[in-house]
Amino acid sequence: MPGIIERYRERLPFAAGDPVVSLQEGSTPLVLAERLSEETGLEVWLKLEGANPTGSFKDRGMTCAVSAAVREGARAVICASTGNTAASAAAYSAKAGLRGAVIVPEGKIATGKLAQALMHGARVVALRGNFDEALKLVREVVSRHPISLVNSVNDYRIEGQKTAAFEIVEALAGELQALCIPVGNAGNITAYWKGFREAGVEPRMLGFQAAGAAPLVHGRPVEHPETIASAIRIGNPARWEEAMDAMTSSGGAVKAVSDAEILAAYRFLAANEGVFCEPASAASVAGLLVHGVGEDVHRVVCVLTGHGLKDPQTALEQAGAVVACDPELGAIERAVLE
Ligand code: F0G
Repeated sequence: MPGIIERYRERLPFAAGDPVVSLQEGSTPLVLAERLSEETGLEVWLKLEGANPTGSFKDRGMTCAVSAAVREGARAVICASTGNTAASAAAYSAKAGLRGAVIVPEGKIATGKLAQALMHGARVVALRGNFDEALKLVREVVSRHPISLVNSVNDYRIEGQKTAAFEIVEALAGELQALCIPVGNAGNITAYWKGFREAGVEPRMLGFQAAGAAPLVHGRPVEHPETIASAIRIGNPARWEEAMDAMTSSGGAVKAVSDAEILAAYRFLAANEGVFCEPASAASVAGLLVHGVGEDVHRVVCVLTGHGLKDPQTALEQAGAVVACDPELGAIERAVLE
């Protein structure tokens, strides 16, 4: 499959002949979740965005943001990030031959994401502050220097990410009544809603935030957001108004899920559906299980935004222990069969 710009060029702001920086993102699996369907009495599908080249949905937006930056003659890109945007920006700027700088909250990004950003050669800056402070600072930096900002405040990111909605509509022939999605900086829910409306389908948009980082639920910014789901540890989302509009105009809602509920969904998906996502992604399924989807819904899609391998530390803390064994047949049999 080609990347999303080639696949959906007529619905994206790119003309034939424009430079395209792609790692063949998009075209991700949409998997029927049989156990979750049994559990909820609904038909539940999982959109596996962890199957993108850098392991998260950010690649859809990043191919567009970086391609546009190249078209504009940029030499460098920058972003604030809880980790995935950093990994994606680092990979696409490496592919494009641009310099990349990523500002992440010190000590609050998952190990895999940090390894990615460093391996791709980005300048990784650990800010003694949180994501919201990092975003404020990078916005000031780009107002003073000719560096392209690739956070989801950049409209090209939204354009790219809306293609996930196109893929869902195509795969399900437009037949879905609700979408469950984690919300952090609120770019992705904004993008899905744009994509659905362009495709002429209006599922109920159900956004889920971590209880310790739920500004949209409380209706005011959270100064010190906290959650195990570090990807969505955000207290003042940049796309606040648009996200609220998506949820209200689709008859949806924004609700909070606790860290314990997120981790329960995270373990359930891995153990029962064979799908290993990162904790923030599991907020969509936690929301479905805890809050439901309301009346008259037959089919629902939960977006699993990032791969579980991004955050091996949380996985090891949540998983069972390994079984030590001597190299001897009887010992192996006992270890395997007991
Ligand atoms: N899920 C994952 C795995 C994420 O990395 C993010 C955001 C979200 C959900 C929420 O999406 O911000 O568009 O509402 N991660 C950003 C980052 C903030 O820097 O990687 P959103």
